[in-house]
Amino acid sequence: MIFETHAHYDDEAFDEDRQELLSSMKDAGIGNIVNIGANMASSHASIELAHSYDFIYAAVGVHPSDSAELDEDKLEELRLLSRDERCLAIGEIGLDYYWPEPDHDLQKKWFRRQIALAKEEKLPIVIHSRDAAADTLSILKEENAAENGGVVHCFSYSAEIAKQCVDMGFYIGVGGVITFKNGRRLKETVDMLPLENIILETDSPYLAPTPYRGKRNCSLYLPLVADAIAEIKGVPAEEVIRITEENARKMYRIDG
Ligand code: NI
Repeated sequence: MIFETHAHYDDEAFDEDRQELLSSMKDAGIGNIVNIGANMASSHASIELAHSYDFIYAAVGVHPSDSAELDEDKLEELRLLSRDERCLAIGEIGLDYYWPEPDHDLQKKWFRRQIALAKEEKLPIVIHSRDAAADTLSILKEENAAENGGVVHCFSYSAEIAKQCVDMGFYIGVGGVITFKNGRRLKETVDMLPLENIILETDSPYLAPTPYRGKRNCSLYLPLVADAIAEIKGVPAEEVIRITEENARKMYRIDG
């Protein structure tokens, strides 16, 4: 079954039909979902969701755009959340230079601290990196994040940078952008990488694939992403689904 490695079902975009939607996943071939935290509130909400549905797991962490809310107490709160039996990773964490705030030094500080936290708790990391490739790579190297493992989610850089991330032991998260007309760079990346380095994600409610681009995204659209990858790789979609599920289980360290 399809393994959805990155979604935000705690988002208010799902307030009206969350339960109905999540209950329809299994019949549509969506096996597991990891709900990803982006700030303190959504980290708590992710853990709650993971306790409400047996096929949902959680990641907890603070997104670079929300890193101004972090302090030592909050970091300890994240640590306790991360010890929950349903929590598989620290994330999403990283650097986002698309927006001017928060300042880069603050983003870098909390990216490093959350990598360290993941290391102490022996968890992989879910990395968000936008317009910040060079700093992201140097922090991953300096913090020896290869030891953590994890994923560069919603990968938006060149195939050359993807290669460097994979060489460090990270998976590349591929979602709706692969179906976009202007998704040429991601298509080149997927063409270059073995399927063994790729995992499927939506980032729901964001980044819905064509023909739903601009609308609310959800994991039910993941077959469109699998089809697009299958076409690039010249293999059946079932093979994409099978291999990326194995990859996700390895990355999130789920047995069986
Ligand atoms: Ni996300």
